[in-house]
Amino acid sequence: MNSIEKHILVIFGGSGDLTQRKLIPALFDLYRKNMLPKIFAIVGVGRTDLDHESYRELLEAGLQKFHGVLPEQTTDFLKLCYYIHNDFQSHTTIELFSQQLYEIDIKTQTKGNFIFYLSTPPSLYEPIVTNLGKAKLTGVSEKFPGWKRLIVEKPFGKDVASARKLQQHLISHFDEEQIYRIDHYLGKETAQNILVTRFYNTIFEPLWNRNYIHHVEITSAEQEGIGNRGGYYDSSGALRDMLQNHLLQLVALTAMEPPTNFNADSIRNEVLKVFQSLRPLNLENLKKQVVRGQYTQSHVGGNLKKAYTEELDIPANSRTESYVALKFFIDNWRWGGVPFFIRTGKNLPTRVTEIVITFKSIPHPVFVKTASTQESKNQLIIRIQPDEGIAFRFGVKIPGIGFDVETTNMNFKYAQKEGVELPSAYERLLHDCMQGDASLFTRGDAVDLAWQFVQPILDEWESNPDFPLFGYPAGSWGPKEASDLKIGYGEWRYPCKNLNSDGGYCEL
Ligand code: BG6
Repeated sequence: MNSIEKHILVIFGGSGDLTQRKLIPALFDLYRKNMLPKIFAIVGVGRTDLDHESYRELLEAGLQKFHGVLPEQTTDFLKLCYYIHNDFQSHTTIELFSQQLYEIDIKTQTKGNFIFYLSTPPSLYEPIVTNLGKAKLTGVSEKFPGWKRLIVEKPFGKDVASARKLQQHLISHFDEEQIYRIDHYLGKETAQNILVTRFYNTIFEPLWNRNYIHHVEITSAEQEGIGNRGGYYDSSGALRDMLQNHLLQLVALTAMEPPTNFNADSIRNEVLKVFQSLRPLNLENLKKQVVRGQYTQSHVGGNLKKAYTEELDIPANSRTESYVALKFFIDNWRWGGVPFFIRTGKNLPTRVTEIVITFKSIPHPVFVKTASTQESKNQLIIRIQPDEGIAFRFGVKIPGIGFDVETTNMNFKYAQKEGVELPSAYERLLHDCMQGDASLFTRGDAVDLAWQFVQPILDEWESNPDFPLFGYPAGSWGPKEASDLKIGYGEWRYPCKNLNSDGGYCEL
């Protein structure tokens, strides 16, 4: 079933939240589907004082909570898991770590093939990588003769300068080909389906350009607030947390040219070209291109929702944005003059991520009773989550006398395909890394360009206290000022209009 070479996956932050919530459930699913190599081990590394047995108990509890366990398979899966209690800081502890890893490598016969996964706070990335270098675990050595790969979780820095510093550090120990930067949006099945929709079908690609497309809109709405992540989130905000990475990656998949083939470099070269073509934001007009917002207290379905500034670990005078919307252009042959609108926010009415391609109107309205000019435009809606699928909006004749027209949807939903279980993003990405396929991982040069693109906004927000921060009631669709960005291009699409007051499932 699989051609993955034997190896050990070493997870720094082995007892942390991401490991329990996402990584272990994804690895368990790969195990269930027989997609892990026969010779394989997972080694959690952390400061929590655990041994192999208590680590397995912790992982089992996590699986129960975040996955739901299948008793027999769980026991066998957990036998693959080991723990090294180590702070990985001093010379002595690194020696000890190296020795313990060596023993597991010998026991499991994995021959020194390692994937190192940085699932720790970003402040630990540099020290861990330095120490891997000191322990001769970044390349081929006598003690560890196999290949080495490094998976890095976002954030990759918090601005251009820190991203470059991190990049320099990573490439002083690992080759770029060994580094796998995770943007989990690229692991989402429907994000990948954008490429198939565009480059497999004959009908879309000829229309996929400035001649036929009126504008592009991408939304990633979250129903949850910031929960207990206030400490991290307040120093990040929606621009850094979602837009600079996840949303720009979706832009790249939507806007890129067809790659010459499907290998990592070809795909990532095309992503890079999109980022190279992003028109730099115009500082004088920044207020006309970007809107930031912060949620305020509200009542939703009889429940009081806290304001952002009342959340745990958030200063009462915080000006961090929990919502951001941006209008921009891609200056290249395909997209010249077509505006892109993207927005993301927390505490919106529902959880939904979608890409809406709005096509230009027909040149001459033959059927005058069309509802409105906006409605007469065809739309292709690519739903990334939930209710994954694609809808095409087009006009049909209202049955009866005359030629009145209404718009309707032609739908494809993954849920309608029988026996289809969409793999989680982490399942897909971990498997790709194990295979040495970096196509769905972001390359250092693209990360740098994405930071360069948003840096003027970060600078302006930091230096100009008058830059507006609009409030929006928690549970609403964000600040009403975001509508101004779209003047001339219709309203934002408000999917799921029929949601009940506390949100819930949002059907395509
Ligand atoms: C993460 C952000 O990268 O993506 C979170 O840090 C956000 O703040 C999450 O909630 C959204 O991911 P998804 O897969 O739930 O859309």
